Amino acid sequence: MKFLVTGGAGFIGSAFIRRLLLETPAETVKAVVNFDKLTYAGNLENLLPVRNDARYRFVHGDICDAALVNQTVADFRPDVMVHFAAESHVDRSILSPAPVFETNLRGTFTLLEAARMHKTPRFLHVSTDEVYGSIAEPHDATEDYPLRASSPYSASKAGSDLLALSYFVTYHMPVLVTRASNNYGPYQFPEKLIPLMISNALEGKSLPIYGDGMQVRDWLYVDDHCRAILAVILRGREGEIYNVGGSRALPNIDVVKAILNSVGQPHSLLQTVKDRPGHDRRYALSSEKLMRETNWTATMPFAEGLKATIDWYRANPEWIARVRSGEYQKFYDKNYAGRAV
Ligand code: NAD
Ligand code: TYD
Repeated sequence: MKFLVTGGAGFIGSAFIRRLLLETPAETVKAVVNFDKLTYAGNLENLLPVRNDARYRFVHGDICDAALVNQTVADFRPDVMVHFAAESHVDRSILSPAPVFETNLRGTFTLLEAARMHKTPRFLHVSTDEVYGSIAEPHDATEDYPLRASSPYSASKAGSDLLALSYFVTYHMPVLVTRASNNYGPYQFPEKLIPLMISNALEGKSLPIYGDGMQVRDWLYVDDHCRAILAVILRGREGEIYNVGGSRALPNIDVVKAILNSVGQPHSLLQTVKDRPGHDRRYALSSEKLMRETNWTATMPFAEGLKATIDWYRANPEWIARVRSGEYQKFYDKNYAGRAV
C-alpha cells in the first residue's frame, strides 16, 4: 500500500511512519509520503531513523492549502490517507483558538475533498476521546456515547469527526475514524502532561499540577496506538468509529509522583497551580469494539511504558533542548504565568 500521512513530523504521526518503515513487512508498505507544515510541534528529527529509506518522501505543506494537497494526492495516488495533522494541545487551543479551527476543521475538509476528487480507497481520520467530554464513573465511553466537547480543541475534533463521517454517508467515501485516549512515549512535545513533567523533573524545575490533580486520564502507549491505527486500516469497517484506549485510567497526581520517584526527585517539586478552564474531570474508553473486530489489544504495561519514556528523555537532552528553545518558552510563560495559587 501507498500511505499519505499528514502530520507525520509530530509525536504520533512520526511513530506511525517509523513503525511503517522499520517494523511492518515491506510488501505491505510500498511508499510513504509525509505531508506536514512543520509547526512548532513538527520536527523532522523524529524521522531521522527512516530518512534514508527510498520509500519515504517529505512534502512541506499546509493541509489547508487545497492546491498543494490536490497536487500531492494526484501525483502520489495513495491507497490510504492517514490524517494526524492537527493543532493538538488543549491549553494552546484555549490561549489561541483560531489556528485550531483552521487546521482541524478547514484542513480536514481540504483533505476529504482531495480524497473525494481522486477516489482515494481509504481515509483514516485520527481523533480523540476528548470529543466525549468528561465521562462519569463508572462508565467507559463506547463509540455511541454523546459528543460533549469542552475545549476549542475537542470541539474542533468533534466537528472534524462528523465532517469525515458525513463523507461516508453522503458520498460513500471509505472513511474510518479512530478515537484514542491520552498517548505517551518518546518524541512527545513537552507541552503535554507526561513529557512536560519528565523534562521539568530531569532539570529540577517545579511541576505544575492543575487544580487538585485528581483528574483521570486513560494512558495509551504511542506504539499501541499506532498498531491500532494499522489494524483499523487493514481490518476496520468503512464508516465506523473505533475507540482506542489504554485501559489504564489514573489520576494525574499519581502519574506525576511516579515520574518524580523514577527520576529520583523530591515531591516538593510539585506545585499546585490554577486549574484549566473547562477542565474535563475524567476520560475512560471502552476499546471492546476494536478488540473484537481487529484482534488488537494494548500490550504495554503503564509502569514499563513510563520507564521507557523516561529513559528516552534522559538519553535525549539535546532533543529536549532544541524543541524547548525559542517559541516554547514564550508559550510556557504565557500558559503558566499568574497561575500560582
Ligand atoms: P502533534 O502536535 O505532536 O503533531 C501535529 C503535527 O501536525 C505536527 O507535525 C505539525 O507540524 C502538523 N501540523 C499542524 N498543523 C498542520 C497543518 N495545517 N498542515 C500540515 N501539518 C500540520 O500531535 P500528536 O500528539 O502527534 O497528535 C496527532 C493526532 O492524534 C492529532 O490529530 C490529535 O488530535 C490526535 N490524538 C492525539 C492524542 C495525544 O495524546 N497526543 C490522543 C488522541 C488523539
Ligand atoms: P494534557 O497532556 O494537556 O492532555 P489532555 O488535556 O488532552 O488530556 O493534560 C493531561 C492532564 O494533565 C489534564 O488533566 C491536564 C493536566 N495537566 C496538568 O495538571 N499540568 C500541566 O502542566 C499539563 C500540561 C497538564
